[in-house]
Amino acid sequence: MDAFTPQPRPCWIAGRPEQGEQALPVRHPFDGTEVASVAVPGPEQIERAVAAAAAVAKEFRRTPAHERATALMHVSDALRERAEEIAETITAENGKPLKWAEIEVSRAVNTFRFAAEEARRFTGGLQRLDTDPNGVGRMALIRHVPRGPVLAVAPFNFPLNLVAHKVAPALAVGAPVIVKPASATPLSALLLGEILAETDLPAGAFSVLPVPGKAMDVLVRDPRLPVISFTGSTSVGWSLMDAAPRKHVVMELGSNSAAIVCRDWTDLDHAAARIATFGNYQAGQSCIAVQRVIVDASVAADFVPKLVSAVSALRTGDPHDPEVEVGPLIDEDNARRVEDWINAAVDGGAALLTGGKRTGTSIEPTVLRDVPFDSQVWRDEVFGPVLVVSVVSDVAEAFEQANDTDYGLQAGVFTRDVQVAFDAAASLEVGGVIIGDVPSYRADQMPYGGVKGSGTGREGVRSAMEDFTEERVTVLTGIQL
Ligand code: SIN
Repeated sequence: MDAFTPQPRPCWIAGRPEQGEQALPVRHPFDGTEVASVAVPGPEQIERAVAAAAAVAKEFRRTPAHERATALMHVSDALRERAEEIAETITAENGKPLKWAEIEVSRAVNTFRFAAEEARRFTGGLQRLDTDPNGVGRMALIRHVPRGPVLAVAPFNFPLNLVAHKVAPALAVGAPVIVKPASATPLSALLLGEILAETDLPAGAFSVLPVPGKAMDVLVRDPRLPVISFTGSTSVGWSLMDAAPRKHVVMELGSNSAAIVCRDWTDLDHAAARIATFGNYQAGQSCIAVQRVIVDASVAADFVPKLVSAVSALRTGDPHDPEVEVGPLIDEDNARRVEDWINAAVDGGAALLTGGKRTGTSIEPTVLRDVPFDSQVWRDEVFGPVLVVSVVSDVAEAFEQANDTDYGLQAGVFTRDVQVAFDAAASLEVGGVIIGDVPSYRADQMPYGGVKGSGTGREGVRSAMEDFTEERVTVLTGIQL
């Protein structure tokens, strides 16, 4: 390596920067240029990170809440101060347009702030036991104790905020965390490591290991990491659970989220604009991007042309161009896969209303109608800028179609009818129903997660803190009430 070649970005081993055994190039998804390289730690470094996490676990869980809150607040403030640089980094590694990268940074600022607030109020509780004769004079004191160090496996689609959703709640409860960022997008997580290193967290409280997927197996099976928090593909998620059946595994997996447009919804321009935007934001690479659009027949003739026109107006291209709304997919393999799925649906009889073409890693925003229900664009998670429209005769059929999937993360229902809203909440088999908007709405402080093939456990700062801890009961005897 000559004097002018930048060093690979360091990985973080037990809170300290280190060079690795190899360097991994990180490429811009739009044009394949190398934007940086990162230090890939070897087995000895991985072992040191895990050993340090295990060694510090007891001490860390006993740190006062105000110290953890201060560290988390420092991260929130530093992310805000460095927002521009971090958003550029997200765009460089992930390819999402800068506007969406900026939104992601501001969400991560909030995620850490929420964790700082929750760290101060996460207290446990008291339960009176004299509700039964044998509990008279007794009281249960319930505390939340970390289950142990957390292995946080993050995806490429939100390289900062989905790392934040694992790191912030772990640190808030006093659990050491080992981050394994996605191989395509390790830069934001490494930057987060740099900011975490500015805090007074004890050595071993965090490590960031940009290791390839195959090195993850060692971490997944290591008994010193009893909690795995995974966001990513359904197949990898369930295989992790099979590989570590005794661990506490939280999984946020894929989905093919539905937006339902009901007959009472009058502002069809608004629904079309929201669905067009959130079917295509981040080029559809969000687990809650709209994929299936289920429209009541009484509004379909008005709604579908509005949707097609809103989607056709979206500009694709270089994510650094401020006019561009839809950037590339993460790599060409995925772009080719999406192209194949679109072609297969058309061959199966679907109508292509707009889009459908691929250029390199980019896919034109696409709308298909009347796709076969056994096609991949309907059944599987596309993770690309593709909307499939189905017209139904009433709300019961809409709910039936929305539920006809192995997934269940979130659904959006455009209605102002309270009865329909309650029916949706009761009938739709998902972790969250968004009334009056797209399924893609997520507030970082609310519970977030899926049912069926979309995973198990919940993120959202408070929910993740509950998942990363277990209740411990102390029974007090001889209590006067
Ligand atoms: C995801 O893709 O599961 C995360 C969506 C989000 O945080 O908005």
